[in-house]
Amino acid sequence: MTGGAAQDGASVLVLISGRGSNMRALIERGRDGAMGCRVTQVFSDRDDAAGLQTARDLGVPAAALPARQWTDRAAYDRALGDAIERCSPALIAMAGFMRVLSSEFVARFAGRMLNIHPSLLPKFPGLHTHRRALAAGEREHGATVHFVTEQLDAGPAVLQARVEVRAGEDQAALAERVLACEHRIYPLAVRWYCEGRLRCRDGRAWLDGAPLAEPLRYEDLP
Ligand code: GRF
Repeated sequence: MTGGAAQDGASVLVLISGRGSNMRALIERGRDGAMGCRVTQVFSDRDDAAGLQTARDLGVPAAALPARQWTDRAAYDRALGDAIERCSPALIAMAGFMRVLSSEFVARFAGRMLNIHPSLLPKFPGLHTHRRALAAGEREHGATVHFVTEQLDAGPAVLQARVEVRAGEDQAALAERVLACEHRIYPLAVRWYCEGRLRCRDGRAWLDGAPLAEPLRYEDLP
Protein backbone atom coordinates (compact mmCIF):
# COMPACT_ATOMS: atom_id res chain seq x y z
CA MET A 1 0.00 0.00 0.00
CA THR A 2 1.04 3.57 -0.51
CA GLY A 3 0.91 6.39 1.98
CA GLY A 4 2.92 4.97 4.90
CA ALA A 5 1.94 2.86 7.85
CA ALA A 6 0.11 5.54 9.82
CA GLN A 7 -2.11 6.51 6.91
CA ASP A 8 -2.81 2.90 5.95
CA GLY A 9 -4.44 2.52 9.34
CA ALA A 10 -6.88 5.37 8.76
CA SER A 11 -10.44 4.22 8.35
CA VAL A 12 -13.19 5.76 6.27
CA LEU A 13 -16.88 5.38 7.00
CA VAL A 14 -19.24 5.76 4.04
CA LEU A 15 -22.84 6.97 4.24
CA ILE A 16 -25.18 5.91 1.43
CA SER A 17 -28.88 5.88 0.59
CA GLY A 18 -28.92 3.94 -2.67
CA ARG A 19 -26.90 2.23 -5.36
CA GLY A 20 -23.47 2.87 -3.86
CA SER A 21 -21.27 3.04 -6.93
CA ASN A 22 -19.11 5.75 -5.35
CA MET A 23 -18.97 3.65 -2.20
CA ARG A 24 -17.77 0.73 -4.32
CA ALA A 25 -15.06 2.90 -5.88
CA LEU A 26 -13.88 3.95 -2.41
CA ILE A 27 -13.88 0.36 -1.14
CA GLU A 28 -11.98 -0.89 -4.19
CA ARG A 29 -9.43 1.90 -4.27
CA GLY A 30 -8.87 1.38 -0.54
CA ARG A 31 -8.30 -2.30 -1.18
CA ASP A 32 -5.87 -1.91 -4.04
CA GLY A 33 -3.79 0.59 -2.07
CA ALA A 34 -4.59 3.62 -4.21
CA MET A 35 -6.15 5.50 -1.31
CA GLY A 36 -3.77 4.97 1.61
CA CYS A 37 -6.76 4.17 3.83
CA ARG A 38 -9.67 1.78 3.77
CA VAL A 39 -13.43 1.81 4.02
CA THR A 40 -14.19 -0.03 7.24
CA GLN A 41 -17.93 0.60 7.66
CA VAL A 42 -20.95 1.59 5.60
CA PHE A 43 -24.19 2.98 7.00
CA SER A 44 -27.39 3.66 5.11
CA ASP A 45 -30.49 5.55 6.19
CA ARG A 46 -32.52 3.13 4.04
CA ASP A 47 -32.72 -0.61 4.52
CA ASP A 48 -33.46 -1.10 0.80
CA ALA A 49 -30.25 0.60 -0.35
CA ALA A 50 -28.67 -1.70 -2.92
CA GLY A 51 -25.23 -0.54 -1.82
CA LEU A 52 -25.58 -2.36 1.51
CA GLN A 53 -25.34 -5.75 -0.19
CA THR A 54 -22.56 -4.52 -2.48
CA ALA A 55 -20.53 -3.52 0.57
CA ARG A 56 -21.13 -6.87 2.27
CA ASP A 57 -20.18 -8.72 -0.90
CA LEU A 58 -16.92 -6.79 -0.82
CA GLY A 59 -16.38 -7.78 2.81
CA VAL A 60 -17.17 -4.42 4.39
CA PRO A 61 -19.60 -4.30 7.34
CA ALA A 62 -22.76 -2.48 6.29
CA ALA A 63 -25.80 -1.60 8.36
CA ALA A 64 -29.05 0.25 7.83
CA LEU A 65 -30.26 2.80 10.32
CA PRO A 66 -33.71 3.53 8.88
CA ALA A 67 -34.85 6.99 9.89
CA ARG A 68 -38.40 5.84 10.61
CA GLN A 69 -37.17 4.03 13.71
CA TRP A 70 -36.47 7.35 15.41
CA THR A 71 -39.03 9.87 16.52
CA ASP A 72 -37.51 12.98 14.97
CA ARG A 73 -34.58 14.27 13.01
CA ALA A 74 -32.59 15.36 16.05
CA ALA A 75 -32.93 11.92 17.65
CA TYR A 76 -31.97 10.23 14.39
CA ASP A 77 -28.94 12.41 13.88
CA ARG A 78 -27.81 11.73 17.44
CA ALA A 79 -28.17 7.98 16.95
CA LEU A 80 -26.35 8.07 13.62
CA GLY A 81 -23.62 10.22 15.15
CA ASP A 82 -23.22 7.81 18.08
CA ALA A 83 -23.00 4.85 15.69
CA ILE A 84 -20.37 6.68 13.66
CA GLU A 85 -18.34 7.57 16.74
CA ARG A 86 -18.29 3.96 17.85
CA CYS A 87 -16.40 3.21 14.61
CA SER A 88 -13.86 6.03 15.20
CA PRO A 89 -13.40 6.82 11.51
CA ALA A 90 -10.79 9.33 10.41
CA LEU A 91 -13.21 10.51 7.73
CA ILE A 92 -16.89 10.24 6.86
CA ALA A 93 -17.51 10.07 3.13
CA MET A 94 -21.06 10.79 2.03
CA ALA A 95 -21.81 9.00 -1.23
CA GLY A 96 -25.35 9.49 -2.40
CA PHE A 97 -26.56 10.00 1.17
CA MET A 98 -29.89 11.71 0.69
CA ARG A 99 -30.55 13.19 4.11
CA VAL A 100 -30.13 16.81 5.00
CA LEU A 101 -28.20 16.71 8.23
CA SER A 102 -28.92 18.86 11.26
CA SER A 103 -26.52 21.59 12.28
CA GLU A 104 -25.74 19.59 15.44
CA PHE A 105 -24.65 16.62 13.36
CA VAL A 106 -22.56 18.74 11.04
CA ALA A 107 -20.91 20.50 14.01
CA ARG A 108 -20.18 17.17 15.66
CA PHE A 109 -18.12 16.01 12.67
CA ALA A 110 -16.98 19.39 11.41
CA GLY A 111 -14.10 19.16 8.98
CA ARG A 112 -14.31 15.37 8.85
CA MET A 113 -17.05 14.93 6.24
CA LEU A 114 -16.67 14.92 2.48
CA ASN A 115 -19.40 14.65 -0.12
CA ILE A 116 -19.49 14.03 -3.87
CA HIS A 117 -21.95 16.03 -5.93
CA PRO A 118 -22.79 15.55 -9.62
CA SER A 119 -22.28 19.10 -10.86
CA LEU A 120 -19.64 21.76 -11.10
CA LEU A 121 -20.57 23.50 -7.86
CA PRO A 122 -21.61 26.20 -7.18
CA LYS A 123 -23.68 25.42 -10.27
CA PHE A 124 -26.67 23.13 -9.72
CA PRO A 125 -26.75 22.28 -6.03
CA GLY A 126 -29.56 19.91 -5.06
CA LEU A 127 -31.26 17.30 -7.23
CA HIS A 128 -31.62 16.58 -10.97
CA THR A 129 -28.32 18.19 -11.81
CA HIS A 130 -27.89 16.55 -15.22
CA ARG A 131 -31.36 17.50 -16.40
CA ARG A 132 -30.84 21.06 -15.20
CA ALA A 133 -27.40 21.34 -16.82
CA LEU A 134 -28.85 20.18 -20.16
CA ALA A 135 -31.83 22.52 -19.86
CA ALA A 136 -29.50 25.43 -19.14
CA GLY A 137 -27.51 24.67 -22.29
CA GLU A 138 -24.27 24.16 -20.38
CA ARG A 139 -21.27 23.36 -22.55
CA GLU A 140 -19.52 21.61 -19.69
CA HIS A 141 -20.68 19.70 -16.66
CA GLY A 142 -19.04 17.50 -14.08
CA ALA A 143 -18.65 16.55 -10.46
CA THR A 144 -17.31 18.12 -7.28
CA VAL A 145 -15.88 16.76 -4.05
CA HIS A 146 -16.49 19.16 -1.19
CA PHE A 147 -16.45 19.36 2.57
CA VAL A 148 -19.86 19.13 4.20
CA THR A 149 -21.19 22.17 6.01
CA GLU A 150 -24.68 23.16 7.07
CA GLN A 151 -25.46 24.67 3.69
CA LEU A 152 -26.58 22.01 1.24
CA ASP A 153 -23.88 21.29 -1.37
CA ALA A 154 -22.15 24.55 -0.48
CA GLY A 155 -19.21 23.50 1.70
CA PRO A 156 -15.64 24.27 0.60
CA ALA A 157 -14.99 22.59 -2.73
CA VAL A 158 -11.84 20.51 -3.13
CA LEU A 159 -11.69 18.84 -6.51
CA GLN A 160 -13.70 18.90 -9.73
CA ALA A 161 -13.72 16.85 -12.91
CA ARG A 162 -15.28 18.13 -16.12
CA VAL A 163 -16.90 16.62 -19.16
CA GLU A 164 -17.95 18.42 -22.32
CA VAL A 165 -21.65 18.18 -22.94
CA ARG A 166 -22.17 16.46 -26.30
CA ALA A 167 -24.68 17.67 -28.84
CA GLY A 168 -27.95 15.78 -28.53
CA GLU A 169 -26.80 13.94 -25.44
CA ASP A 170 -29.53 12.81 -23.07
CA GLN A 171 -29.59 12.90 -19.31
CA ALA A 172 -28.69 9.25 -18.85
CA ALA A 173 -25.65 9.41 -21.11
CA LEU A 174 -24.40 12.57 -19.44
CA ALA A 175 -24.99 11.10 -15.98
CA GLU A 176 -22.99 8.02 -16.89
CA ARG A 177 -19.98 10.05 -18.03
CA VAL A 178 -20.13 12.26 -14.94
CA LEU A 179 -20.39 9.20 -12.70
CA ALA A 180 -17.19 7.81 -14.20
CA CYS A 181 -15.53 11.10 -13.22
CA GLU A 182 -16.93 10.81 -9.71
CA HIS A 183 -15.33 7.40 -9.31
CA ARG A 184 -11.95 8.93 -10.16
CA ILE A 185 -12.00 12.10 -8.09
CA TYR A 186 -13.60 10.86 -4.88
CA PRO A 187 -10.93 8.28 -4.00
CA LEU A 188 -8.26 10.86 -4.79
CA ALA A 189 -9.69 13.49 -2.44
CA VAL A 190 -10.17 10.84 0.26
CA ARG A 191 -6.56 9.85 -0.21
CA TRP A 192 -5.41 13.44 0.28
CA TYR A 193 -7.46 13.66 3.46
CA CYS A 194 -6.13 10.39 4.87
CA GLU A 195 -2.58 11.43 4.06
CA GLY A 196 -3.13 14.57 6.14
CA ARG A 197 -2.72 16.81 3.10
CA LEU A 198 -6.34 17.95 2.86
CA ARG A 199 -8.12 19.80 5.64
CA CYS A 200 -11.04 22.16 6.18
CA ARG A 201 -10.23 25.26 8.22
CA ASP A 202 -11.72 28.73 8.55
CA GLY A 203 -14.43 27.81 6.09
CA ARG A 204 -11.97 26.84 3.38
CA ALA A 205 -10.37 23.73 1.99
CA TRP A 206 -6.60 23.55 2.45
CA LEU A 207 -4.25 21.31 0.53
CA ASP A 208 -0.61 20.94 1.54
CA GLY A 209 -0.89 23.85 3.96
CA ALA A 210 -2.33 26.36 1.50
CA PRO A 211 -5.97 27.43 1.16
CA LEU A 212 -7.63 26.62 -2.14
CA ALA A 213 -8.95 29.75 -3.84
CA GLU A 214 -11.01 27.47 -6.05
CA PRO A 215 -11.39 23.72 -6.42
CA LEU A 216 -8.59 21.88 -8.13
CA ARG A 217 -9.32 20.63 -11.62
CA TYR A 218 -8.70 16.95 -12.04
CA GLU A 219 -7.70 17.46 -15.67
CA ASP A 220 -4.93 19.86 -14.62
CA LEU A 221 -3.34 17.63 -12.00
CA PRO A 222 0.19 16.47 -12.74
C1 GRF B 1 -23.91 10.35 -7.30
O1 GRF B 1 -24.18 10.96 -8.52
C2 GRF B 1 -23.39 11.35 -6.31
O2 GRF B 1 -22.66 12.37 -6.89
C3 GRF B 1 -24.67 11.91 -5.72
O3 GRF B 1 -25.54 10.81 -5.65
C4 GRF B 1 -25.17 9.84 -6.63
C5 GRF B 1 -24.94 8.58 -5.90
O4 GRF B 1 -24.65 7.52 -6.76
N1 GRF B 1 -24.42 12.56 -4.46
P1 GRF B 1 -24.03 6.20 -6.19
O5 GRF B 1 -24.99 5.70 -5.12
O6 GRF B 1 -22.68 6.51 -5.62
O7 GRF B 1 -23.96 5.25 -7.35
